Amino acid sequence: MRKIAIVSGKGGIGKTTLAINLGYLLHKKFDFDTTVVDCNLTTPHLSVNLGLYNANRTLNDVLRGKARLEEAIIEHPTGIKILPASIELKDLENIEIGNLSGILQGSNSNLILDSAPGLGREGIAAISAADEILFVTQPYTTAVVDIYRCGKIAEKLDKKILGVVVNYRKGFKHELNDNEIEQLTEVPIIGTIPYDMEIEKSLAAKLPLHVYNQKAPSNVNFHSLASHITGNKIKKESFFNRLKNIFKKEGRLLWGY
Ligand SMILES: Nc1ncnc2c1ncn2[C@@H]1O[C@H](COP(=O)(O)OP(=O)(O)O)[C@@H](O)[C@H]1O
Ligand SMILES: [Mg+2]
Repeated sequence: MRKIAIVSGKGGIGKTTLAINLGYLLHKKFDFDTTVVDCNLTTPHLSVNLGLYNANRTLNDVLRGKARLEEAIIEHPTGIKILPASIELKDLENIEIGNLSGILQGSNSNLILDSAPGLGREGIAAISAADEILFVTQPYTTAVVDIYRCGKIAEKLDKKILGVVVNYRKGFKHELNDNEIEQLTEVPIIGTIPYDMEIEKSLAAKLPLHVYNQKAPSNVNFHSLASHITGNKIKKESFFNRLKNIFKKEGRLLWGY
């Protein structure tokens, strides 16, 4: 079983967004049994972003020894499996985040760990509990410098570094380019997700992007990242579908529809 932590130095970079969409695609489209774990106990967003507000059991209970790991896993109507953290402030009492690694050892599902930002105790706990690290950055210097620092810690902890995903690319000149990001982080880029308002809308609708809008432009980026992670080749479109797409494009050009 694989345990992949999604890590960034800053908050608001796209970790939870990536965790939800990868979790969905890996589990539902790549037959890769996956559970997404909310390791951000102080500001948990995973269940909120999926509209699952009243879980009976949470990671907090598992960390306290009050529930088994499998008992706290819940399934979203779309099929994505999550291990939520409690959104109740009082549930932060008597929690030892250092136990995370030991608890997740017993998992019989592949795990995507949605981490807290930075290198505080929570962030380090997620890195320590994982075998592989997937970094997320935006194409700006501060976020990128943070990845360099997180990368050094991950190396020290002997973790396999999968690569970095550049999220929120808008394609402006003032953004760092891929070359600059790889030079600064010393980590290869394995995916890019453009800025896409459909992603914001999908989160507001509490759905993975693929379910919310199959035609959204960034589906293909999430899909190729999932495919890279599993080592599967992306399925080539059938001849008929390719022909249909070309016909659509020609129709738009010729007849403006
Ligand atoms: N590629 C993107 N395009 C548009 N909006 C995005 C994109 N990635 C993330 N967002 C938005 O940015 C916000 C912060 O993302 P989130 O995944 O919660 O970050 P983190 O988990 O790193 O704090 C989310 O509300 C989401 O709507
Ligand atoms: Mg988050």
